[in-house]
Amino acid sequence: MNAIHESNPDLPRTPGRSGDPCLMVIFGATGDLTKRKLIPALYNLAKAKLLSRKFALIGTAFDELNEETFRQQLAQDIRTYALGEVDDKVWAWLEKRIHYLKGDFRDENFYWKLREMCYAVGGKNAIDDNYCYYLATAPTFFGEIIRQLGNSGMAKEESGHWRRVIIEKPFGHDLESAHALNMEIKDVLKERQIYRIDHYLGKETVQNIMVSRFANSIFEPIWNRRYIDHVQITAAEEVGVERRGAYYENAGAMRDMVPNHLFQVLSLITMEPPISFEANAVRDEQTKVLRAVQIPTHEEVLSMTARGQYHEGNVDGLTLAGYRNEERVAADSKTETFVAMKLMLDNWRWGDVPFYLRTGKRMAKRTTEIVIQFRRPPMVLFRNTEIGKQIKHNRLVIHLQPNEGISLEFEAKIPGPLMNLGVVKMDFDYEDYFGSSCNTGYERLLHDCMTGDATLFQRADMVEAGWSLIQPILDVWKALPPRSFPNYPAGSWGPKDADELLERDGRHWINR
Ligand code: BG6
Repeated sequence: MNAIHESNPDLPRTPGRSGDPCLMVIFGATGDLTKRKLIPALYNLAKAKLLSRKFALIGTAFDELNEETFRQQLAQDIRTYALGEVDDKVWAWLEKRIHYLKGDFRDENFYWKLREMCYAVGGKNAIDDNYCYYLATAPTFFGEIIRQLGNSGMAKEESGHWRRVIIEKPFGHDLESAHALNMEIKDVLKERQIYRIDHYLGKETVQNIMVSRFANSIFEPIWNRRYIDHVQITAAEEVGVERRGAYYENAGAMRDMVPNHLFQVLSLITMEPPISFEANAVRDEQTKVLRAVQIPTHEEVLSMTARGQYHEGNVDGLTLAGYRNEERVAADSKTETFVAMKLMLDNWRWGDVPFYLRTGKRMAKRTTEIVIQFRRPPMVLFRNTEIGKQIKHNRLVIHLQPNEGISLEFEAKIPGPLMNLGVVKMDFDYEDYFGSSCNTGYERLLHDCMTGDATLFQRADMVEAGWSLIQPILDVWKALPPRSFPNYPAGSWGPKDADELLERDGRHWINR
């Protein structure tokens, strides 16, 4: 059953205001992120007239390029990554605002050169001295770059002009290093200048969680322990570690996905209504709810988490290599490529409602979704009848990707002379309704930074709250290395341990 069949491109959309005049400096500009996401996102913003006419970009990296070769490279890449036809006029406008500076981020002189270039490019494009620094480098450079920006006076906000720094993930490797990095950068920057990015928050459906909950009156009354039986959050990927073996060996699925992406989703699902949509009001509630998650004891880590690593598997007649055979991965690697966990929240709204989270590489299907499973009805009407036994849980499923939408599953009578019940689905599909979008997910985040809205960026305390929750798990896992790795075939739904985690509670994962 489809609630909505037709697309509706005529829905009213508020024209957004364009970003402030701004000079963006991308550190690590020759990497994948710039060509795949940042440049296409800037192009889309320019096309939608959401980028100030007073805009320029300086890419910096260690690579031996110059302005011309950098532009040529990006002009080729945009045709591959733009997600739609490239409008030559828009691209030409953007391209001529792109510059390049080669340099070593550890070299003090580089920052003086960069400063000069910023003045020159900024002046030429009549930019009001607003600078956005995007750190798309390896995390080892984050602290160093910010310190040097401070030393060269480039982080200082004067005469009403802003200086903001966007920091990519991973933000820290554990609680201690995340805290140390926060301390280090706060020596130079005020919290309002720091934009810790989590690209999950650029996804429309993730942003829609807040809208569904707080712009409607039908969900909130049942959004609590009285009506909700449990919640599942799944972020399953079909891909393996691709060419990122070296990074992944150190990170693993837990660090890579949980304290950032999955906890962002968890906090949006569980937080109390903020008093406004102002950045700190929202982030206060997100942090508060993360602090309400019970920190697992040593024993609980063993019974409430499961980890896995994929071995060779077959999908559609194709043999997929095991993790230990991937490029730049140790032959006896103990790194987890899958993690599942049960979390309990210690607050009035969620007491006794389990939250099951899982994420993994090389799983059966690419899907990111949240399943809210409601309690069964009291069954007064159907007690002791066959119908009573047929009654299933109602479910609200929020599909984050690849097909963005929301579906509601509920019981209906199957037409006919007998009283038989079946589960029906009411589907809201983003694409059907709003048409397809060519967004990379970074447009909103870049634009927000250029307008000074930090709602969708992580604050220092949120990041540390996330790490505090997983630190005990990382500690126990380190002390007790896995004995059964590898333990799930590539192309499956993960290890048996993850199924048992739910079976112990009389439940099962919803795999679809
Ligand atoms: C990244 C992780 O942050 O998120 C990757 O480092 C992961 O390992 C990716 O594949 C998932 O993001 P998305 O948007 O593809 O679901």
